[in-house]
Formats: sequence, C-alpha cells, structure tokens
Amino acid sequence: MSKIFVDACFGKETPYTPVWMMRQAGRYLPEYMAVREKAGNFLNLCHNPEMACEVTLQPVDILGVDAAILFSDILVIPDEMGMDLSFVKGEGPVFSDPIRTQEDLERLVGGEEAANKLTYVYDTIKLIKERLSEDKALIGFTGAPWTLATYMIEGQGTKTYNICKKMMYSNPELLHAILRKVTDVVKLYMEKQIKSGVDVVQIFDSWASAIEPSKYDEFSWKYMVEIAHYLKAKYPHIPIIMFPKGIASFIERGFVYGDFDVFGVDWGTPMALAKEKLGEKYVLQGNMEPCRLYSKEATTECVEALQEIMGGKRHIFNLGHGILPDVPVENAKHFIDECHRVSKK
Ligand code: CP3
Repeated sequence: MSKIFVDACFGKETPYTPVWMMRQAGRYLPEYMAVREKAGNFLNLCHNPEMACEVTLQPVDILGVDAAILFSDILVIPDEMGMDLSFVKGEGPVFSDPIRTQEDLERLVGGEEAANKLTYVYDTIKLIKERLSEDKALIGFTGAPWTLATYMIEGQGTKTYNICKKMMYSNPELLHAILRKVTDVVKLYMEKQIKSGVDVVQIFDSWASAIEPSKYDEFSWKYMVEIAHYLKAKYPHIPIIMFPKGIASFIERGFVYGDFDVFGVDWGTPMALAKEKLGEKYVLQGNMEPCRLYSKEATTECVEALQEIMGGKRHIFNLGHGILPDVPVENAKHFIDECHRVSKK
C-alpha cells in the first residue's frame, strides 16, 4: 500500500497534504506521562522497546497524524559511544564526561561497535512496524553530527557554544576528528534503522544557527551530505528529510546540494522565502511557530496562510520546531484537522 507521507516526500500528488509534529510523542499527552511514570525516567523509556513503541503510536491514535516518529532521543548515540548521559530534571541532558581532548575522543567506541549497541532502537522499530497501520509512515531519525557534537563537547545544552566554538577556531582538527567519528556511527545507525523498517529518515541539525554562515558548510552541512549520499546510494526509496534550524539568515548561500528529498523549514524562516530559494529542489516541511498552538484561531490563520503559499504542492505540514509540554491536546488535534481540511482535494 502506498503511504501518503512517503509519496509527499517525493513530491507526488496526494489527496491532501500530510502532517506530523516534531516532538509529537511527548509531555503534552497525559498518556505519555503515564507511560513515562511506569518506566521510571525518560532514558528507561527509550531503552524499553515495548513502552517506546506504545508512546510512538499515541499521537497517531490520538491526533490522526500521517506519520509516526520513532520514540528515542538523538543523544542515545553518544551514550552508546561510551559517554555518561543523564537527564536532569529542569536542566535537560547532561554528560558528566565531555569530550575536550584527543584522548577523550579515543576513549569513545566508534563505527559498527557503537551502532550495534543501539539494539533497543532497532527492536522498537520492528515492534512499531508490526502495529502501525499500513497507510502511515514511520520516521527514523538522528541528530546531525554538529548538533550531537555540541552536547558531547559542552556536556549539556548551552546558550553560547563557547567551548565548541573555541575548538572550532583554535583546534579545528580535533573538532573535525569528533565529527568524523560521530558521522561514521550515524551512517551505520541510520542504515540499521532502515533495515529494521523505518520508511523515512530525518536529520535534526537543531543547532545549525550556532555556526556563522561562512563556516556552516565545513562544520555541519558537508557531514550531513556525506550521510545522505551513503544512504541514498543504497536505499533510494527511503526519503531523507533535513532539518537545519535557524538558517534564514544564510538561506542565500544555498543548501542546494546534497541527496535530501525534504527540507524542514524552521519557524523563523518565512515559508514564501523558503519556497523561492529551495522549493524547486526540495519538498518543504513546516513551519508553524509552535506557540501558535496555544490559540486555535492563531493556528487556523497560519495553516490557511501556509496552504495559500504552498498551494498543496511539494509540501508537508509540520511545526517549525517541537511542540511544547503545556499545549492543550485539543489544540494539537485542531492543528492536524485544519491541515487536512484546508488541503483536501
Ligand atoms: O516525538 C518525537 O519527536 C520523537 C522523539 C524525540 C525526542 N527527542 C524525545 C524527547 C526526538 C525526535 C528528539 C530529538 C532531540 N533530542 C533533539 C532534536 C530536535 C529538537 O528538538 O531540536 C534534541 C536537541 C534532543 C536533545 C534533548 N532531549 C533535549 C535538549 C531534551 C530536554 C529538553 C526538553 O524538552 O525537556 C531532551 C529530552 C526529551 N527528548 C524529551 C522527549 C519527549 C523530554 C523528556 C521527558 O521529560 O519526558
């Protein structure tokens, strides 16, 4: 059975424009909170295929989104490379042992050995595929090497990225060595997700905007191009979505090379500008400002405006970043219904 979501990723005509939301399996859903409670904490939930499968399917059942996204986190990669990850309440992810030197890097497990440790992710994918309705797609994902490296080097989220950027300008060889090791794991990790059954993959470069435009290619884009090239050569039927967040200021420099099918547009980039600069090469995904979900009127206004700009062609509805934990479920449902309503042919 063909999946509307996969067809849309390849720019084919679909009966309506499909929609999903970044972070759609998460804390705004009481059903998610109940499973997380049972698991004890967030990482236990990621490690338990039965529970991770359950929360992956929740937004499909509750909201009627057109694609499920694997429930996991981008940071399970460095965790399985041997770093010590924990999620501290109120502070987000923390690594107690950040990578600051060549010796730190050498301590990390790489390649096939690291990718093989993520078996709970592959098991989760297989379970989801048994239970997900055939007309819906399953999205697998990874963090971009740059975004992963920011957490590995800083040891936590950061506002200034000063430790990574000090490395970028004073020891670029070390930063490249870290990015190389991560890229090699990510290629194999994504390949194993595909072999386990994901229908689409998305690469999150959430901290793209932390790099000055003239350095973006060297420290982030070229590694993602390498990952996409590796996957496309072997799995041309699997669409690849690229989401570099916060790139409006350097959209001109062109993101126009690379084997990506879909470009995820963040909420700070006007969709009309994205269409003009990138719309010929890529199907565009996005890009409602997530806080519009607090108001049904503001949501409808944006969905109608996006439909007007994209005209139901080469478009996938989504938010321009993740849904926040205090959004009412009925407002999220309203967003999904409105996307379907305005785009129905
Ligand atoms: O529904 C989905 O989108 C699938 C699951 C998913 C999660 N994280 C679950 C999660 C995905 C795709 C991610 C990706 C992710 N993780 C990114 C890239 C996307 C983005 O938002 O930019 C990043 C940067 C991370 C790292 C991360 N994980 C942070 C910074 C945090 C804490 C911030 C927060 O929202 O609390 C997490 C934790 C996390 N990952 C949660 C979820 C549902 C919240 C954990 C909880 O308390 O239950």
